[in-house]
Amino acid sequence: MKKLTWFSASIILFFLITITSCKKSTKSAKSQKTTENTVNKKWWKEAVVYQIYPRSFQDTDGDGIGDLKGITSRLDYVKSLGVDIIWLNPIYASPNADNGYDISNYDAIMKEFGTMKDFDTMLSEMHKRGLKLVMDLVVNHSSDQHEWFKQSRSSRTNPYRNYYHWWPAEKGTPPFRPCAFDEDGSAWKYDKLTNSYYLHYFSYKQPDLNWENPKVRQEIYAMMNRWLKKGVDGFRMDVIPFISKDTTFPVITKKILKEKFNGSWGQYFASGPHLHEYLQEMNKEVLSKYDVMSLAEGAGTTLKTAMDFVDPARHELDMSYHFDGVSLGYLPNQFKQMDPNGYKLTEFKKVYSDWDKVFEKKGWGTIYLGNHDQPRMVTRWGNDSEEFRAISSKMLSTFLLTMRGTPYYYFGDELGMSNIKFNDIKDYRDIETISMYKRTEDKGGDLHYFLEGQKISARDNGRTPFQWDASENAGFTTGIPWIKINKNENEINVVSEENNPDSPLNYFKKLVQLRKNNKDVLVYGSYKLLDKNNPNVYAYTRTSGNQKMLILLNFKAIEATANTGLDLSNATVLLSNYSNAKVSQKLQPYEALVLALK
Ligand code: GLC
Repeated sequence: MKKLTWFSASIILFFLITITSCKKSTKSAKSQKTTENTVNKKWWKEAVVYQIYPRSFQDTDGDGIGDLKGITSRLDYVKSLGVDIIWLNPIYASPNADNGYDISNYDAIMKEFGTMKDFDTMLSEMHKRGLKLVMDLVVNHSSDQHEWFKQSRSSRTNPYRNYYHWWPAEKGTPPFRPCAFDEDGSAWKYDKLTNSYYLHYFSYKQPDLNWENPKVRQEIYAMMNRWLKKGVDGFRMDVIPFISKDTTFPVITKKILKEKFNGSWGQYFASGPHLHEYLQEMNKEVLSKYDVMSLAEGAGTTLKTAMDFVDPARHELDMSYHFDGVSLGYLPNQFKQMDPNGYKLTEFKKVYSDWDKVFEKKGWGTIYLGNHDQPRMVTRWGNDSEEFRAISSKMLSTFLLTMRGTPYYYFGDELGMSNIKFNDIKDYRDIETISMYKRTEDKGGDLHYFLEGQKISARDNGRTPFQWDASENAGFTTGIPWIKINKNENEINVVSEENNPDSPLNYFKKLVQLRKNNKDVLVYGSYKLLDKNNPNVYAYTRTSGNQKMLILLNFKAIEATANTGLDLSNATVLLSNYSNAKVSQKLQPYEALVLALK
């Protein structure tokens, strides 16, 4: 065979490369054009959500508890952040066993928070400013003080009996189900009056509603319609994957749990037989009638099951949030005790990259590092020491605002608020910490160890009052706050941060604007993880057409270098948490760099 000359070989090679790259580019151009996500743009995909814990935002009547008038009075501040949607934790009437996640009347406002008139004013003031309101919807369970439950428990023949799940005692002890909040750990509570047990996945003050009863579903849809007609812009749905139950209540052995549900009760709870049927029904009867958004608290959902909730073709919900990220770094078989070595960044990167992949073409994801069920983001994922608190909290905010998926940003994180780290169980208000403490005590466990763990992981760390200024009680209340205020209020507060151009607050505002001004890339653009085994740096690109950004995040308190393999000679810095930042893959401690690539 005639030998190929160097020249002809290079011509062939040239053609081969051109053909494959053409093929590739038509393929990627095609897939970019045709994915549901690049075509189907929505306001809630482009939005930044700001979550307010109403109990701790602003008190106006001196009872030490935040209220709706307080929220209304601070809307200009919220608007100044540049965010679009406010999600409020439950504000309905509630005896507050679980701070509003136990609702006694879905059509009334919690008395500590104000009146329906205060609500109407708040909503209209939000809308005047172009802010949307998302309400919490807690319908897996109600309060035991809800009229439905009072009726239901009163006799076996009451018309409301089937609004909840009852197990007559003559059938013996019901098959074990765990509950999240009670000392005894069982989700069945015996009720003497009718000699029956009722089901509660959380506390016994939060009985689970029986969704298998069509009347219950109709009541809930009617209630949702009433709120949407009032003008609210959507719902965040509390533990919504748990609503449907196999009412034969089969025995679930450890073996079944392990083999079928990966050893996770959450996954079992999220596998109810009619779950998706009910969500489709809810969509048809409620959500489809309005231009609103819906978000599932994706408890028990996995990479495999999440799409079923948010695939537009299925007509269920819009977005979901998972727990894989926030569960990292805990020791196995212990209640929220951090591994002394912390979490591994490589695992963190894998979780967020795997989840990004799920919604690459259709459906839509979310991104968050803090909320009312989590400790403060900077303590848990960054570094809350004096030296690194501000810089690391800005780095984490950079992550949240440059990923694909709608960011859910928790109030106070823009200030870099950190965990309060109570020493004494008496300072805690959260049913979860208090009952886990009792469980530990009953078992003769190590209470000191438990409390040390809670300094990092307890939910109350994220629930302390918002820090407005350096005055007594941080400008939150003139009374005695319902939970202690963090002592760092003198330094970490809105007034001092508004006056400091380098503050986490001012940096957050810049990040929001960066996302808004670059929606094609930062909202809709594709995501690619680089340098995946780097233990210190999280590096990724976001790309849309010819526009590309490289995000470099040093998650450690030491200098670290990224090896992205990219040519940065024409790159420019769009934003960084260091004022002396330059284009470089060598990063200062907790440095965040957002680069435009040419
Ligand atoms: C959800 C809420 C949490 C609450 C629980 C029970 O996980 O986010 O705060 O305690 O449901 O309603």
